[in-house]
Amino acid sequence: MIADIIVDLQYGDCGKGKVTHALCRRGDYTHVIRYNGGCNAGHTIYHNKRKFVTHHIPAGVFFGLKSIIGSGCVVCPEQFFKEIEELEEGGINTKGLIFIAENAHVITKEHLEEDGEDTTIGTTKRGNGPAYRDKYDRKGLRAKEVPELRPYLIDMYEELHLKHPKAKILFEGAQGFGLDIDWGDYPYVTSSNCISAAACMNGVPPQAVRHVWGVAKAYETYVGTKQFQPTGDIFNKIQEVGEEFGATTGRKRQVNWMDLNFLKKAIHINGVTHLVINKMDVLKKIEKWALIKNGYKMNFDSEDDFRDFILRDIMPDNRDIRIHQLHFSSHKDKI
Ligand code: IMP
Ligand code: MG
Repeated sequence: MIADIIVDLQYGDCGKGKVTHALCRRGDYTHVIRYNGGCNAGHTIYHNKRKFVTHHIPAGVFFGLKSIIGSGCVVCPEQFFKEIEELEEGGINTKGLIFIAENAHVITKEHLEEDGEDTTIGTTKRGNGPAYRDKYDRKGLRAKEVPELRPYLIDMYEELHLKHPKAKILFEGAQGFGLDIDWGDYPYVTSSNCISAAACMNGVPPQAVRHVWGVAKAYETYVGTKQFQPTGDIFNKIQEVGEEFGATTGRKRQVNWMDLNFLKKAIHINGVTHLVINKMDVLKKIEKWALIKNGYKMNFDSEDDFRDFILRDIMPDNRDIRIHQLHFSSHKDKI
């Protein structure tokens, strides 16, 4: 069994959907598995010149690959069926390709109602927190207990260890390192582990992991109630030029420069072997390149200088974990 993992290194919205899409296109995966989160995620995918926003269903479905909502996820049946409908309407065949781990937990109407009242964290109001709370409180509902989900259920042990022990899995993370329940800025976090290690909690042994694709952005964005964006018109400009609106809630994302120490921490903890830094074109359009290093802002005269500094900073030669590939990419660009 081989597993590659896609993980967001900042606060979500770094372009995981695009990386998933690019890796799936290469075509040698047998399964694509979402490993955490619920429909709080919003993955924007451009496929055959059409824009799709998926919340639950992994991007493998665009390529006819088995797409599983893993046991680490929580799933909202209503949203799940809506998404299947939207994909079918968009000309994507979903029949026989979409599965839910039978031990994934369910987001109920009560969870949605409760989360709808949140004002402290600025959640996506998709019932994520209450669903995970009930799971850990042992009061939750597993997918296998919901009759309408029955045709989609899968036993991940049987599927990945007994039926397809040579499976080639692509794990798709949701949210990001900065929103991880343990490693993020608690309580301004989501309610699941977003880091690469969480992929293995879906019944896949750590020895199977081959590559970890870390996805970051040339600047940071965050959605939620905490104050994140510093004062200065430049950040509003980045927000506008980068079209930084939440894919799930339509909220404006707060913007800041990339914190390189934070990015390095994320690279180390997630064991990143392949790194993608997206939306370089946004900084080019505004002709400003800056980042935060050791708490101080550093300015650069050109994109080349900006890239060089990042490269030298994150590629130390004395670590066990090495980044084999680094892509700088533009919005809507292919990698
Ligand atoms: P929840 O996951 O809906 O409980 O929201 C908790 C925090 O995570 C809030 O600040 C949300 O805006 C943020 N969040 C959750 N999912 C995403 C996502 O997919 N992208 C960006 N932020 C997210
Ligand atoms: Mg997103």
